[in-house]
Amino acid sequence: MTNEQIQQVIDELKALNAKTAKEVEEARIRFLGKKGSITALFEEFRTIAPEYKKLYGKALNVLKQEAIAKIEELREAAENDIASGRAVEDMSLPGSGYELGSRHPVSIVRQEIVDIFRKFGYDVAEGPEIEDDWHVFEALNFPPNHPARDMQDTFFVSAGHKNPLLLRTHTSSVQVRAMEKLKLPIRVICPGRVFRNEAISARAHCIFHQVEGLYIDENVTFADLKQAILLFVREMFGADAKIRMRPSYFPFTEPSSEVDVSCNICHGKGCNICKGTGWLEIMGCGMVDPNVLEANGIDSKKYSGFAFGMGIERIAMLKWQVNDLRHYFENDLRFLHEFDSALEV
Ligand code: DAH
Repeated sequence: MTNEQIQQVIDELKALNAKTAKEVEEARIRFLGKKGSITALFEEFRTIAPEYKKLYGKALNVLKQEAIAKIEELREAAENDIASGRAVEDMSLPGSGYELGSRHPVSIVRQEIVDIFRKFGYDVAEGPEIEDDWHVFEALNFPPNHPARDMQDTFFVSAGHKNPLLLRTHTSSVQVRAMEKLKLPIRVICPGRVFRNEAISARAHCIFHQVEGLYIDENVTFADLKQAILLFVREMFGADAKIRMRPSYFPFTEPSSEVDVSCNICHGKGCNICKGTGWLEIMGCGMVDPNVLEANGIDSKKYSGFAFGMGIERIAMLKWQVNDLRHYFENDLRFLHEFDSALEV
């Protein structure tokens, strides 16, 4: 081994000017690969006389470190060039590709519900997610001691005063906003996110989505309500779907009803989804309570109306037989990709 040999490699390394990732890799092999010039010097180093080892050993180690650093520097520069589009490595290589996103199942069903009611002449109305007590409870005829006004059920943003701010617990609040803002007759559909202070489980979540419907005009009757729901259900679940209405209670409707749809899995025979009954509960509804009309400045002698409200996740669960509500909020791509083909719906 001679100083000249080492100097020659140093000079070559100084002169090295590799631009592309491919050239950098070739240079690495030339200097540091198994048969590279620096590797060869290390091989030779093993055979030299012990008194020279210290001198050459140091020089070789410095050279090797410098070579590694320079090649790393060139590699980074080449990668930056590619990233910034300054250099194109090999035009014949396949592109890196990116995944197309798809719509969330809740968005798909929300759109489907909205589209169906749009066909019936409903407009979309929206309201704030942070609401006040008036729009969520008071104007909807909730008595002062109703359990929904308890901290246990509702997330309060600011408590303590007469009209506290809270996260809306249902989209019925948008009914009130619509009555305040729109001219009669009113025919709106109100999709949105709602919040309840619930422990998260397969059947309950603290955030979910609802669609509210409201129709107010002269001479609106329960028969109109029944017909609107039947038409909706047939569009959503198929032409042979049936409905069943059970008496119920909501502060803002009188009379009130809950609606079941015939089970679209067993077609009424009874299965584990409908728990053997042949029916699945899908929404609440009723005739708008005259107290609600009056609280919103509408003459209840002249006008009447109906309202309904349904959970979007619930409809999606029935449509796709998803048995755990948590799937909708965990952003697991394996779950979300199952709905890619539903895009065309
Ligand atoms: N707001 C009710 C809930 O969150 C759903 C509902 C029931 C809405 C009956 C309505 C209705 O408009 O008439 O459970």
